Amino acid sequence: MEKQDFPQDFVWGAATASYQIEGAWDEDGKGENIWDRFSHTPGKVEHGDTGDVACDHYHRWKDDIALMKSLGLRAYRFSTSWGRIFPEGRGSVNQAGLDFYSRLVDELLKNGITPYLTLYHWDLPQVLQDEGGWPARATAEAFVNYADFLSRMLGDRVKHWMTLNEPFVSALVGYLEGRHAPGHQDLDEMLAAAHHLLLAHGWSVPVIRSNAQEAEVGIVLNLNSMHPASKSTADRAAAWRDDGIVNRWYLDPLEGRGYPADISEHFDRPMKFIQTGDLDTIAVPLDFLGINYYTRRISRSDVISEEENEPRRVFPNPEHTEMGWEVYPPGLFETLARIHFDYNFPNLYITENGAAYPDTLDQDGKVHDPARIAYLQEHLKSLSKAIAIGVPVQGYFVWSLMDNFEWAHGFSKRFGIIYVDYENQERVLKSSAEWYRDVIATNRVPE
Ligand code: FCB
Repeated sequence: MEKQDFPQDFVWGAATASYQIEGAWDEDGKGENIWDRFSHTPGKVEHGDTGDVACDHYHRWKDDIALMKSLGLRAYRFSTSWGRIFPEGRGSVNQAGLDFYSRLVDELLKNGITPYLTLYHWDLPQVLQDEGGWPARATAEAFVNYADFLSRMLGDRVKHWMTLNEPFVSALVGYLEGRHAPGHQDLDEMLAAAHHLLLAHGWSVPVIRSNAQEAEVGIVLNLNSMHPASKSTADRAAAWRDDGIVNRWYLDPLEGRGYPADISEHFDRPMKFIQTGDLDTIAVPLDFLGINYYTRRISRSDVISEEENEPRRVFPNPEHTEMGWEVYPPGLFETLARIHFDYNFPNLYITENGAAYPDTLDQDGKVHDPARIAYLQEHLKSLSKAIAIGVPVQGYFVWSLMDNFEWAHGFSKRFGIIYVDYENQERVLKSSAEWYRDVIATNRVPE
């Protein structure tokens, strides 16, 4: 038998998120969410794009599952739209919204595809934002209600649950930088948002477990490997600080270490929103950590002391994706090894990894994307090295199943292994999809 690069039962999947693919933004009783509001506000999203229709997955879900099946996907990571189920954020249920996800799950299972469900991928009901959004503790309470309801309804069939996708991005890009919904720029709001996101997570994990028997429950973080631009003390301090803001601010409290003291000092804000017991709640043991990995980060300090005279490093790999993100496959190994040796999560998944390139539909009706294949190939090699040293990675989800609404970039960035023609909603398998199908079938990364 040929040697395989991945374990026999390795979970090969693809990922999407509700707002990025569903469309049907105000159909069948769905409530408005912060991305509806944000994208409808002029100037917020490139070309004025919105998720009103997106990939029309709300209507084409059955065909989309047939495509997944044709690729041999063993798992599908998707998110549920909170406002489709609770249009007011809490209170009365919109049955049509629940039915949509219930049918989706049934169809996945019928096709032998395991559902991996994310409860929150950034589309907060607008009414909850109007009451304060994530900076308000009540939003975390409403989340638990939503998590409780959905896990009672789907817990008999869905056995893999993720509470949040990338709380760092929700908090920092949404409440400090303002590039994402709700578009605020306020450090105190960011810190409170991050805390209430983690609290919502911590409260809901035991609830989901009790509703969904034998379910695995986890959270998804975006992690970067951090590299100082030189060996100077100042650049190294900058890298450690960036690591604190992006990685440790979430990893440490989840692990029961509380918020990292160096970063609390750096923010230098009274964190009055932390109540007794919150940190214990957040530290609830998890079944797995989901990691989204795209690139590394190079940290530079503004000041380098003259005595040190350390030259800035020259980074030899100038290749970037269309997002402007450096292609740095070793960072996946670095990140996995670090999490494995420094933290205690029992299992890991790569819940997102992928690249945007300017794909086009050729005359021959095909989409050739060799750059994406190369990106995926190198990252999978890096992943298999991590598995070889004993990092317990259970599965890998490519971002994304299909081209979709890339947040503030609208439809200008294509991440899919399936091409979407937004004129007529036609789907075309890119060559990367065919390549991925072979990876799945053989459990190997072809040379
Ligand atoms: C991640 C998001 C995902 C997608 C990719 C490119 O941060 O979770 O929705 O936008 O980036």
